[in-house]
Amino acid sequence: MTFQRSLITAALPYANGPVHIGHLAGVYVPADIYVRYLRLKGKKVLFVCGSDEHGVPVTIRARKEGITTQQVVDRYHALIKRSFADFGISFDIYSRTTSETHHQFAADYFRKMYDAGQFVEQTSEQFYDPETGHFLTDRNIRGECPRCHAQGAYGDQCEKCGATLSPDELINPYNAETGNALAKKETKHWYLPLDQYQPWLEKWILEDHKEWRPNVYGQCKSWLDGGLKPRAVTRDLEWGIPVPVEGAEGKVLYVWFDAPIGYISNTIELCQAQPEKYGNWEQWWKQQDTRMIHFIGKDNIVFHCIVFPSMLKAQGYNLPDNVPSNEFLNLEGDKISTSRNWAVWLNEYLDDFPGKQDVLRYVLTANAPETKDNDFTWADFQARNNNELVAIYGNFVNRALVLTGKYFEGHVPECGELTGYDRQTIEEFCHVKDTLESLLENFRFRDAQKEAMNLARIGNKYLADTEPWKLAKTDMARTATILHVSLQIAANLAIAFEPFLPFSSEKLRSMLQMDEQIGWEDLGRIDLLHTGAKLGEVSLLFEKIEDSAIQAQLDRLARIKADNERAARDEALKQWRPSPIKADTNIDEFDKTDIRVATVLDCQPVKKSERLLQFRLDDGMGGRTILSGIAQSYPDPSVLIGKQVLFIANFPPRKMMGIESQGMILSAVDADGRLVVTTVSAPVKNGTQVG
Ligand code: MF3
Ligand code: ZN
Repeated sequence: MTFQRSLITAALPYANGPVHIGHLAGVYVPADIYVRYLRLKGKKVLFVCGSDEHGVPVTIRARKEGITTQQVVDRYHALIKRSFADFGISFDIYSRTTSETHHQFAADYFRKMYDAGQFVEQTSEQFYDPETGHFLTDRNIRGECPRCHAQGAYGDQCEKCGATLSPDELINPYNAETGNALAKKETKHWYLPLDQYQPWLEKWILEDHKEWRPNVYGQCKSWLDGGLKPRAVTRDLEWGIPVPVEGAEGKVLYVWFDAPIGYISNTIELCQAQPEKYGNWEQWWKQQDTRMIHFIGKDNIVFHCIVFPSMLKAQGYNLPDNVPSNEFLNLEGDKISTSRNWAVWLNEYLDDFPGKQDVLRYVLTANAPETKDNDFTWADFQARNNNELVAIYGNFVNRALVLTGKYFEGHVPECGELTGYDRQTIEEFCHVKDTLESLLENFRFRDAQKEAMNLARIGNKYLADTEPWKLAKTDMARTATILHVSLQIAANLAIAFEPFLPFSSEKLRSMLQMDEQIGWEDLGRIDLLHTGAKLGEVSLLFEKIEDSAIQAQLDRLARIKADNERAARDEALKQWRPSPIKADTNIDEFDKTDIRVATVLDCQPVKKSERLLQFRLDDGMGGRTILSGIAQSYPDPSVLIGKQVLFIANFPPRKMMGIESQGMILSAVDADGRLVVTTVSAPVKNGTQVG
C-alpha cells in the first residue's frame, strides 16, 4: 500500500496546568520533527492536537485554585496553545474538547456504538458521599493504607509506600474534599467489552505490528497476556459530555472515551473551516490510503493501542499504523510533577531564555527518552548549547559567513578546482540524507539529530583543516573554493536541521538567501547556492549560556524543593491520627522493662553513619554508652547535653559500627517522621526507675 497522506496526532494535553519540558520531549517535539520532515519532503500531512478539557485533573485544579472548571480550561487552553506556537509546534489545528463540534461528535459516536449494541450495560456498587449525593473517583477517596497504615492514602495509590490500591482496600475511606465517611450505592454504567476484541487485537498488534517500539509492543503484550476485561466508558460526574441516552442523567462520557475522539472532531473542525485546503475529513479517517500515527507518552499506551483502536474498529475507522511512545523525562533526578511544581514550564523558560526555543528543542531531542526514562539537567542543557550548538554548528556557520563577508563582500565566491580533501568532505556528507531519512522514518529522532550535528562537525573540521583565513594572504582562488564549499555545507545544514531547529534554519536560510523552493530532496547537493549570489545579514545562530543563568535555574529548583518538603510535612501533620491502641498487657509484663532516668553527658554523631548518635550517660551507676538512630532529627546533637532522658536499662548490649550500645533511649516519632527524645521535666536522681 502506498500512502497518499499522513495524519499525525499528538496526545491532547490536559488543560489543568501549563505544559512543561516533559510534554515537549515526550510527545510534541518528536511529533513536530516528524511532521516537518514530511512537509519538507512535500508530503500531504495533517497534524492534529488540542486540549483535553474533561476528566478529573481539571476539576481538581479548579478546586485548588478556587475558580470554576470552565475558568481553568479557558486559562490553560490559551496558555498551552500559546506555548506550543512559541516553540514552533506546527499543528494544523489546536482545538479543544469543550468545543461544540467535539461535544456533538463524541456524543454521536457514543450513540452510534450504543445503537449498534456495542456496549455492555452493568450495574455495580460504588462509593458515594451520602451528604453530597456524589459518587467519587478513586483519587477523591482517601483513607488508611492497608499495607503501611499511613493516613491519607488515595483510592488508587498510597503515596507513602507506593502501593497500588483500589478504593475497596482502604481502611475507613472518606471523601477527600468533605472528609465525610463514604457509603456504597448501586450505579449503572456502559462498558466497552474489550474481551470481545482480544483475539482481533492479538493478531493486529502482536502479529501485524511487530515493528512497533519495544516499549509499546511490550506493554500491549502484557495487557493482552493478562486478558482484557470490559472497561467502563461512562462516569458519575458533572463535568464532561453528558451520556446521550435515556436513564443516564448525571452521567458523562469517561474522559478517555471522549478525548481520543477529539482527534477526529478536531479534524472535522479544520476541514469544515478550510475545505479547499484540507479536503473532506473522512478521507483522513476512513480512506485506506491515509496513514495514521499517534505520538504519545508511555502512560497513554493502553488507550491508544487497545481502547481507542477497538472504538475505531467498531465504527469502521482507520487504525493507527504506528504509535511511537516515549518513556518519561525526569528533571534533575526527580519525577516531573505538575502538582509539585517540579518542572520547567515552557512559558517560564521563554521568559528566562527569550528566543532560545531551538536550544530547548535541541537538548530535549538529544536527551529524548526514546528507549528509557531520561534526565534533564541544567548542566547538560548548558553544555549542549555551549559545546555543540555554539561551538560546532554556530561556529562553523558563522566562520563561513564572516569570512565570505570579509574576503568576498558577502557574495558566494567561485568554486575552483576541488582537491582530494574537498571531494572527500563532500563525499562524507552526501550520505547524510539517506541516514537521516531512515532514522526519521523509524522515529529515531535522537540519532537523527546526532546525524545532522555530524554534518556540522564535518563542516567545522573542514574549515579548521583548510584554514582559509591563512590562505587568504597567499591564494585567493583557493580561499574562494573553500568558502564556496563551506557555504554549500551551511545550506545543507539549514535543510538537515529544519525539522529539529526550525527557528535557526529559518534564520540560516535567510542569511544564505536560500531559495524557498529548496526542500528535503535537495539535501546532499552542493549547488544550492549560486556563485555570485549576495548573502543576507549575518548574525549569530546561537549564543553562549553563562553560568549565572544556569545557577538561577538551579536556585529556583532548590526553592521549590524546600517548599515541597515543607508542604509534605504540613500535609503529614494534617493527616496524622494516633495509631490504634495495642493489644492489652498488664503490669507484670510492663515491669519486665527497666526504664530509668539519666543525664546526657555527651552526644556526638557516629563517624561514617548518617543515622546514629552516640550518647554518654550518667546513669547513676557508673555511666553507660547508648547509640540511637536519631541523628537526622538532631543536626546539632549538643542541644541534648545536660538533658535528663529516659532509657531502657535492661536490653542486652549490642554492637553497631564497632561501638557497644548498652540500652535504648526513648523518643517519640512525630507525624513528619522526626524523632524527639523524651526528657524529664523536673530534675530527679540519675538511675531512678520509671514506672
Ligand atoms: N490528556 C491525556 C494525558 O495528558 C492524553 C489524552 S490523549 C487523547 O495523559 F487521545 F485522549 F486525546
Ligand atoms: Zn502505604
